[in-house]
Amino acid sequence: MLIARPFTSAAIKLHPFDCGEPELNEWLARYASQSEKKDNVRTTLLLDEEAQRVAGYFSLRTFELSAADGESAMGRKRRYPVPAMLLARLAVDNDYKGHGVGKLLLFDALQRLVAAADDIGFEIVVVHALHEDAACFYLKHGFRRFLDHELSLFLTTKDLRATFAAAEPS
Ligand SMILES: CC(C)(COP(=O)(O)OP(=O)(O)OC[C@H]1O[C@@H](n2cnc3c(N)ncnc32)[C@H](O)[C@@H]1OP(=O)(O)O)[C@@H](O)C(=O)NCCC(=O)NCCS
Repeated sequence: MLIARPFTSAAIKLHPFDCGEPELNEWLARYASQSEKKDNVRTTLLLDEEAQRVAGYFSLRTFELSAADGESAMGRKRRYPVPAMLLARLAVDNDYKGHGVGKLLLFDALQRLVAAADDIGFEIVVVHALHEDAACFYLKHGFRRFLDHELSLFLTTKDLRATFAAAEPS
C-alpha cells in the first residue's frame, strides 16, 4: 500500500530511488533534506511501506513571474508580477511507473494547492518540465504551455479549483 508522508531523510536511506533522471534522483538523495530544513521547498514522499521504498515524490514551493515574463508567457498584459506556486519536482521510481503513481502524486500535489489557495493568493501553478515527454504528462492533466517556453507549463488557480477540488484520480 502506498502512503503519502511528509519528507523524512530516514525513508530515503531505505532503498536507492531511481526515476531514470539523475538530476531528480540526486536532488532527493542529497538536497531534499537541507531544502526541507531551510523551508525552501516542501517535499511529500509516496512510500511503499511494505517494500520499504520510496515509490515517488513531489516538491512544492512559492514562485513569481515578473510582469514582463507573465505577459510573454500567457499573452495577456500584466501590470504587476504574477504570484504563483511551483511544482518544483515530481518523479516516480522506475519500478512503479505505468501504474497511476505519477497521476496519484500530481493529484495529491494539486489538491494540496487547492487547499492552500483558500489562504494564500496565487494565480497560477507552474511546472518546468525536464523534457518534452514530461511536458506531455502535464498537458494530459490540464496544464497549458507558456507561449514563450515549450517546457514551462501552467494551470490557473481557477482551473485548479474547478478540476481538482473534489476529483479523485480514476
Ligand atoms: C512522468 C512520470 C511522472 C509519469 O509517472 P507514471 O507513474 O509512469 O504515470 P502514470 O502511470 O500515473 O500515468 C498517468 C496517466 O498519464 C499518462 N502518461 C504517463 N506518462 C506520460 C507521458 N510522458 N506523456 C503523456 N502521458 C503520460 C499515462 O498514460 C496515464 O494515462 P491514463 O490515465 O489515461 O491511463 C514518470 O514517468 C517519471 O517519474 N518520469 C521521470 C521523471 C520526470 O520526468 N518527471 C517529470 C519532471 S518535470
